[in-house]
Amino acid sequence: MGRVALVTGGTRGIGGAISKDLKAAGYNVAATYHGNDEAAASFRDATGIAVFKWDVGSFDACQDGVARVSAELGPVEVLVNNAGITKDGMLHKMTADQWNAVIQTNLTSAFNMSRAVIGAMREAGYGRIVQVSSINGQKGQMGQTNYAAAKAGLIGFSKSLALETANKGITVNVVAPGYTETDMVAAVPQNVLDKIVAQIPVGRLGQVEEIAHAVRFLAGDDAGFITGATLTVNGGQYMA
Ligand code: CAA
Repeated sequence: MGRVALVTGGTRGIGGAISKDLKAAGYNVAATYHGNDEAAASFRDATGIAVFKWDVGSFDACQDGVARVSAELGPVEVLVNNAGITKDGMLHKMTADQWNAVIQTNLTSAFNMSRAVIGAMREAGYGRIVQVSSINGQKGQMGQTNYAAAKAGLIGFSKSLALETANKGITVNVVAPGYTETDMVAAVPQNVLDKIVAQIPVGRLGQVEEIAHAVRFLAGDDAGFITGATLTVNGGQYMA
């Protein structure tokens, strides 16, 4: 069996594509989900990928969940922090709940999950952590002070953890997708989405498989000299 890879939010959208891509590359994949039992069960049945339910915003749930995955599949060698939500709104209308929920699920989750796997990675002298950030964490976006803060936070988090782990065989990198064909982007009002697509030089939304491909590259054994990096995959919309 290949290396054990854990993908959070790994049953739908970009995360689903990452789980499938890693499985096709020979990894032994665990995909987490939080809300949608039905989607997770059909994903498991269609792909044969093991699914696990917990809230990545909860420190204790991450400790328990990673222990379950390790018991069933073995110690996690590749962690992909992909789970994320949006609660968009202009700051002058944003509630504290909108702010806290997005920071908890999109940023605190990276601490919770990395903290849960880092001990085993350090012991093994090997690990790959890949964060799924966003173009909007790099360039900002109207209506997304919460989301952009969390996604930018992942970049600083990763550079810092990369420094801490570089001499332990562990790399920590970021993939920053642009606007990609997912349910999340489909929820953007059509008039706004039209304006956004007009700003993408490639002239279209990204495909989930195109994001997964970049994650798989950074997750590979042969990417060991790349750490603390941010790989933008956004059709040229923002060149960082
Ligand atoms: N680009 C250009 N114009 C934008 C814009 C954007 N991203 N967002 C809003 N606007 C414009 C609107 O078109 C509108 O312009 P007009 O007055 O000329 O029509 C104006 O700003 C005000 O917008 P709304 O009337 O929609 O105001 P609202 O208060 O009802 O809602 C909003 C504001 C919540 C920001 C809403 O416009 C919205 O949801 N925008 C989309 C935000 C967005 O891009 N979210 C990304 C989600 S996908 C994602 O997050 C994945 C990823 O990583 C890329």
